[in-house]
Amino acid sequence: MIKVGILTVSDSCARGEREDASGQAIEQMLSAGKYEICRKKVVPDDADLIAEELICCSDEARLDLVLTTGGTGLGPRDVTPEATVSVCERMAPGFGEAMRMEGLKKTPNAILSRGVAGIRGSTLVVNLPGSPKAVRECLGLIADVLPHAVEMMLGGGH
Ligand code: MTE
Repeated sequence: MIKVGILTVSDSCARGEREDASGQAIEQMLSAGKYEICRKKVVPDDADLIAEELICCSDEARLDLVLTTGGTGLGPRDVTPEATVSVCERMAPGFGEAMRMEGLKKTPNAILSRGVAGIRGSTLVVNLPGSPKAVRECLGLIADVLPHAVEMMLGGGH
């Protein structure tokens, strides 16, 4: 089982003004047989709080995979990619490249996501954009490769 954390980055969700539909969308898409959702959190668009949670997911909870949603755009408070880069030792640019390339076939707005992916310790962190629609499209695209990515990161075969 792949141990997963879901991190929703949203000021309005953190204030309780909006339901965390994107976090729920991620949870629904991860098939129960393969993934164990070990941790689910909502934080505001604050780089320190995002980084703190990612560090905790990796160093303490020892999760295999953390999927974030939100805070990847161009707004002044969109800092999820920066927080992710700040805690990762190695980056995995293919995830962001693929999500933007494929996303462009659905909406020109895909270009606006600055989401990244990277590895801290033995945890793969992948940024997804914020809307439930974008989550479904982007996670749908990478879902098949995630088990292999985690296996490879943990030293399994290529
Ligand atoms: N990617 C896909 N596949 N589908 C989408 O609907 N929405 C875009 C983009 N990526 C979208 C997408 C929009 S409108 C924005 S603003 C950016 O993701 C960043 O979203 P975020 O700031 O909520 O992370």
